[in-house]
Amino acid sequence: MAYAAGVDVGSTQTKAVIIDEDGRIVGRALIDTGANVTLAAENAYAAALRQSGLNEEEVEYVVGTGYGRYRVTFGNTQVTEISCHARGAVHMFPGTRTVLDMGGQDTKAIRVSPSGEIIDFCMNDKCAAGTGRFLGAASAALDIPLDELGRVALRAERPVRISTTCTVFAESEVLSWLGKGKKIEDILAGVHQSIAARSIGLLRRVGIEEEITFTGGVARNVGMVEALQRGLGVKLNVSEESHFMGALGAALFALDHILASRLPAEAVEGAR
Ligand SMILES: Nc1ncnc2c1ncn2[C@@H]1O[C@H](COP(=O)(O)OP(=O)(O)OP(=O)(O)O)[C@@H](O)[C@H]1O
Ligand SMILES: [Mg+2]
Repeated sequence: MAYAAGVDVGSTQTKAVIIDEDGRIVGRALIDTGANVTLAAENAYAAALRQSGLNEEEVEYVVGTGYGRYRVTFGNTQVTEISCHARGAVHMFPGTRTVLDMGGQDTKAIRVSPSGEIIDFCMNDKCAAGTGRFLGAASAALDIPLDELGRVALRAERPVRISTTCTVFAESEVLSWLGKGKKIEDILAGVHQSIAARSIGLLRRVGIEEEITFTGGVARNVGMVEALQRGLGVKLNVSEESHFMGALGAALFALDHILASRLPAEAVEGAR
């Protein structure tokens, strides 16, 4: 059995996935990227290896992706995160035509063909307002853990309208709403709606075609899934593995390489 790996070094979190030759995940790990990007890649990969029970030698090919992909020093090659998220999304949901990847710093809208090739993509320009970072600012201002933000937002009855478009000012706007006596859930719902609206703008720029698959760490946020579904009027594909989708895509590209390099040898065998 051959094994392949993908390591997605994101601006916020680093994800590693190991798959077998049938494309099944046999090990995964997620850690904060932190200041030492090379170390984050090594640590995430080592943790995924431990979970799989495999030795490093058993993994034949490793692909790095994400903003820190060139820091995956043990990787054999690199592939962009646009390609990797699209590949992972199409693998999990073959009907995918549009991918929305929301990470800690970037949000990307990607259009894919029925065969999974990238037709077009678009990302937020140097501004974190429609990304996980905006949620991080709200989480800090309200002292609510990131993994509870979405659930709290779902309890809202009268969402506030967040007017700032800048993450830097998000915290002060959240605090000013608190000062005006607004409920935390209503403020949070406003934050989610404002991020969803920006992301839907990005999706429109590439053209929205169903099925839409939502990937990246923010896809774990049930409040964001709900806000997007409400804004778009359609259901999104959200996998349990959404956070690992880029790493999974990278691992699938690694597996392609293994299988392709095996072909000639087998063809030679067959000819004998
Ligand atoms: N358990 C969780 N529940 C809800 N949201 C989460 C959870 N864990 C992480 N997140 C969100 O996911 C974000 C990180 O996502 P991801 O790992 O996809 O980003 P990244 O790949 O590091 O960033 P980028 O792609 O922008 O470089 C965090 O900023 C946070 O908002
Ligand atoms: Mg990412």
